[in-house]
Amino acid sequence: MGTHTTRARPAASANSRTTVAHSASLARTHALGRALGAALEPGDVILLVGDLGAGKTALAQGIGAGLGVRAVINSPTFTILKEYAGRLPLYHFDLYRIESPDELYTLGFDEYFVGDGVCVVEWAERGEPTSPDAPLPWPVSYLRIELRAEELERRTLTATSAGPRGAALRAILARASAEDH
Ligand SMILES: Nc1ncnc2c1ncn2[C@@H]1O[C@H](COP(=O)(O)OP(=O)(O)OP(=O)(O)O)[C@@H](O)[C@H]1O
Ligand SMILES: [Mg+2]
Repeated sequence: MGTHTTRARPAASANSRTTVAHSASLARTHALGRALGAALEPGDVILLVGDLGAGKTALAQGIGAGLGVRAVINSPTFTILKEYAGRLPLYHFDLYRIESPDELYTLGFDEYFVGDGVCVVEWAERGEPTSPDAPLPWPVSYLRIELRAEELERRTLTATSAGPRGAALRAILARASAEDH
Protein backbone atom coordinates (compact mmCIF):
# COMPACT_ATOMS: atom_id res chain seq x y z
CA MET A 1 0.00 0.00 0.00
CA GLY A 2 1.56 3.29 -1.07
CA THR A 3 0.45 6.84 -0.58
CA HIS A 4 -2.19 6.52 -3.28
CA THR A 5 -4.69 4.81 -1.10
CA THR A 6 -7.81 6.09 -2.85
CA ARG A 7 -8.61 4.54 -6.20
CA ALA A 8 -11.50 4.47 -8.58
CA ARG A 9 -12.50 0.99 -9.53
CA PRO A 10 -13.48 0.68 -13.15
CA ALA A 11 -17.17 0.14 -13.66
CA ALA A 12 -18.10 -3.48 -14.18
CA SER A 13 -19.37 -2.70 -17.66
CA ALA A 14 -20.05 0.29 -19.83
CA ASN A 15 -23.68 0.15 -18.80
CA SER A 16 -23.02 -0.31 -15.13
CA ARG A 17 -24.82 2.18 -12.96
CA THR A 18 -22.54 1.69 -9.99
CA THR A 19 -19.26 3.40 -9.17
CA VAL A 20 -17.17 2.53 -6.14
CA ALA A 21 -14.84 5.15 -4.70
CA HIS A 22 -12.59 4.98 -1.68
CA SER A 23 -11.63 7.66 0.78
CA ALA A 24 -8.77 7.32 3.22
CA SER A 25 -9.36 10.56 5.12
CA LEU A 26 -11.91 13.18 6.03
CA ALA A 27 -10.09 15.63 3.74
CA ARG A 28 -10.44 13.19 0.85
CA THR A 29 -14.18 12.80 1.47
CA HIS A 30 -14.46 16.58 1.48
CA ALA A 31 -12.58 16.72 -1.83
CA LEU A 32 -14.89 14.14 -3.44
CA GLY A 33 -17.85 16.19 -2.24
CA ARG A 34 -16.37 19.39 -3.62
CA ALA A 35 -16.04 17.84 -7.07
CA LEU A 36 -19.73 16.94 -6.98
CA GLY A 37 -20.74 20.34 -5.60
CA ALA A 38 -18.91 22.18 -8.36
CA ALA A 39 -20.86 20.22 -10.98
CA LEU A 40 -24.36 20.48 -9.52
CA GLU A 41 -27.19 21.96 -11.53
CA PRO A 42 -30.65 23.14 -10.45
CA GLY A 43 -32.88 20.23 -9.52
CA ASP A 44 -30.04 17.81 -8.78
CA VAL A 45 -30.60 15.40 -5.92
CA ILE A 46 -27.91 13.49 -4.03
CA LEU A 47 -29.08 10.82 -1.61
CA LEU A 48 -26.73 9.76 1.19
CA VAL A 49 -27.13 6.43 2.90
CA GLY A 50 -25.01 4.87 5.63
CA ASP A 51 -24.71 4.26 9.36
CA LEU A 52 -24.13 6.85 12.06
CA GLY A 53 -20.68 8.34 11.56
CA ALA A 54 -20.25 6.87 8.08
CA GLY A 55 -19.46 10.32 6.68
CA LYS A 56 -22.71 11.55 5.15
CA THR A 57 -22.43 15.01 6.69
CA ALA A 58 -18.71 15.12 5.84
CA LEU A 59 -19.58 14.51 2.19
CA ALA A 60 -22.40 17.07 2.38
CA GLN A 61 -19.90 19.61 3.71
CA GLY A 62 -17.67 19.03 0.70
CA ILE A 63 -20.64 19.33 -1.64
CA GLY A 64 -21.54 22.63 0.01
CA ALA A 65 -17.98 23.90 -0.37
CA GLY A 66 -18.06 22.97 -4.06
CA LEU A 67 -21.29 24.93 -4.37
CA GLY A 68 -19.71 27.98 -2.77
CA VAL A 69 -21.59 27.73 0.52
CA ARG A 70 -19.65 29.71 3.10
CA ALA A 71 -21.69 28.81 6.15
CA VAL A 72 -20.73 25.84 8.27
CA ILE A 73 -22.79 22.84 7.28
CA ASN A 74 -23.60 20.57 10.19
CA SER A 75 -25.93 17.70 10.80
CA PRO A 76 -29.48 19.02 10.67
CA THR A 77 -30.84 16.06 12.62
CA PHE A 78 -33.25 18.05 14.75
CA THR A 79 -34.60 20.21 11.96
CA ILE A 80 -34.92 17.73 9.06
CA LEU A 81 -34.11 20.52 6.58
CA LYS A 82 -31.58 23.33 6.50
CA GLU A 83 -31.17 25.74 3.63
CA TYR A 84 -27.83 27.22 2.65
CA ALA A 85 -27.00 29.92 0.12
CA GLY A 86 -24.35 29.05 -2.45
CA ARG A 87 -24.01 29.33 -6.23
CA LEU A 88 -27.38 27.54 -6.04
CA PRO A 89 -29.57 27.10 -2.97
CA LEU A 90 -28.58 23.96 -1.08
CA TYR A 91 -31.31 22.06 0.75
CA HIS A 92 -29.69 19.75 3.25
CA PHE A 93 -32.06 17.13 4.61
CA ASP A 94 -31.57 14.66 7.44
CA LEU A 95 -34.44 12.20 7.52
CA TYR A 96 -33.17 10.31 10.57
CA ARG A 97 -36.05 11.47 12.71
CA ILE A 98 -38.99 11.30 10.36
CA GLU A 99 -41.68 8.91 11.52
CA SER A 100 -42.66 7.61 8.10
CA PRO A 101 -41.91 8.37 4.46
CA ASP A 102 -45.32 10.11 4.21
CA GLU A 103 -43.97 12.90 6.37
CA LEU A 104 -41.98 14.18 3.40
CA TYR A 105 -45.25 14.91 1.64
CA THR A 106 -47.19 16.20 4.64
CA LEU A 107 -44.38 18.68 5.31
CA GLY A 108 -44.32 19.63 1.62
CA PHE A 109 -40.67 18.69 1.28
CA ASP A 110 -41.22 16.91 -2.01
CA GLU A 111 -41.44 20.38 -3.59
CA TYR A 112 -37.75 20.91 -2.96
CA PHE A 113 -36.82 17.91 -5.08
CA VAL A 114 -38.11 19.58 -8.21
CA GLY A 115 -37.06 23.12 -7.36
CA ASP A 116 -34.33 25.50 -8.47
CA GLY A 117 -31.88 24.42 -5.84
CA VAL A 118 -30.05 21.19 -5.15
CA CYS A 119 -30.94 18.64 -2.50
CA VAL A 120 -28.61 16.56 -0.38
CA VAL A 121 -30.53 14.01 1.68
CA GLU A 122 -29.00 12.16 4.62
CA TRP A 123 -30.76 8.96 5.73
CA ALA A 124 -32.55 9.00 2.38
CA GLU A 125 -33.76 5.42 2.85
CA ARG A 126 -36.09 6.65 5.59
CA GLY A 127 -37.92 8.70 2.96
CA GLU A 128 -38.53 5.66 0.79
CA PRO A 129 -41.74 3.64 1.16
CA THR A 130 -41.12 0.03 2.10
CA SER A 131 -43.59 -1.25 -0.48
CA PRO A 132 -41.81 -1.73 -3.78
CA ASP A 133 -45.00 -0.65 -5.58
CA ALA A 134 -45.11 2.77 -3.94
CA PRO A 135 -43.40 5.56 -5.86
CA LEU A 136 -40.13 6.99 -4.59
CA PRO A 137 -40.24 10.62 -3.50
CA TRP A 138 -37.18 11.47 -5.63
CA PRO A 139 -37.20 12.86 -9.16
CA VAL A 140 -36.26 10.59 -12.07
CA SER A 141 -32.61 11.64 -11.87
CA TYR A 142 -30.56 11.31 -8.73
CA LEU A 143 -27.26 10.06 -7.43
CA ARG A 144 -27.37 7.75 -4.44
CA ILE A 145 -24.21 7.26 -2.44
CA GLU A 146 -23.91 4.60 0.21
CA LEU A 147 -21.05 5.25 2.64
CA ARG A 148 -19.50 2.53 4.69
CA ALA A 149 -16.90 2.97 7.40
CA GLU A 150 -14.01 0.56 7.05
CA GLU A 151 -11.11 0.38 9.45
CA LEU A 152 -9.74 3.65 10.84
CA GLU A 153 -10.46 6.53 8.48
CA ARG A 154 -11.27 4.49 5.42
CA ARG A 155 -14.63 4.88 3.82
CA THR A 156 -16.13 3.09 0.84
CA LEU A 157 -18.55 5.10 -1.27
CA THR A 158 -20.82 3.06 -3.51
CA ALA A 159 -22.67 5.31 -5.93
CA THR A 160 -25.66 4.27 -7.98
CA SER A 161 -27.44 6.59 -10.33
CA ALA A 162 -30.83 7.07 -11.87
CA GLY A 163 -31.53 9.14 -14.94
CA PRO A 164 -29.21 11.32 -16.99
CA ARG A 165 -28.21 13.75 -14.23
CA GLY A 166 -27.53 10.88 -11.88
CA ALA A 167 -25.24 9.32 -14.47
CA ALA A 168 -23.46 12.63 -15.07
CA LEU A 169 -22.82 13.09 -11.37
CA ARG A 170 -21.65 9.52 -10.99
CA ALA A 171 -19.13 10.16 -13.77
CA ILE A 172 -17.90 13.24 -11.89
CA LEU A 173 -17.42 11.14 -8.77
CA ALA A 174 -15.56 8.46 -10.73
CA ARG A 175 -13.23 11.07 -12.24
CA ALA A 176 -12.56 12.76 -8.90
CA SER A 177 -11.90 9.39 -7.32
CA ALA A 178 -9.40 8.45 -10.03
CA GLU A 179 -7.43 11.70 -9.71
CA ASP A 180 -4.07 11.54 -8.02
CA HIS A 181 -3.98 13.38 -4.76
N1 LIG B 1 -12.58 9.20 5.33
C1 LIG B 1 -13.48 9.81 6.10
N2 LIG B 1 -14.55 10.40 5.53
C2 LIG B 1 -15.50 10.98 6.29
N3 LIG B 1 -15.47 11.05 7.64
C3 LIG B 1 -14.41 10.50 8.24
C4 LIG B 1 -13.37 9.86 7.51
N4 LIG B 1 -12.46 9.41 8.39
C5 LIG B 1 -12.89 9.73 9.59
N5 LIG B 1 -14.06 10.39 9.54
C6 LIG B 1 -14.83 10.85 10.70
O1 LIG B 1 -16.07 10.15 10.70
C7 LIG B 1 -17.09 11.01 11.17
C8 LIG B 1 -18.16 11.16 10.11
O2 LIG B 1 -19.19 11.89 10.69
P1 LIG B 1 -20.44 12.42 9.88
O3 LIG B 1 -21.14 13.37 10.79
O4 LIG B 1 -20.02 12.91 8.56
O5 LIG B 1 -21.27 11.07 9.72
P2 LIG B 1 -22.79 10.92 9.30
O6 LIG B 1 -22.81 9.78 8.35
O7 LIG B 1 -23.34 12.20 8.83
O8 LIG B 1 -23.48 10.46 10.66
P3 LIG B 1 -24.99 10.77 11.18
O9 LIG B 1 -25.82 9.62 10.70
O10 LIG B 1 -24.84 10.75 12.65
O11 LIG B 1 -25.46 12.07 10.65
C9 LIG B 1 -16.43 12.34 11.51
O12 LIG B 1 -16.12 12.33 12.88
C10 LIG B 1 -15.18 12.31 10.66
O13 LIG B 1 -14.12 13.07 11.21
MG1 LIG C 1 -24.96 13.41 9.43
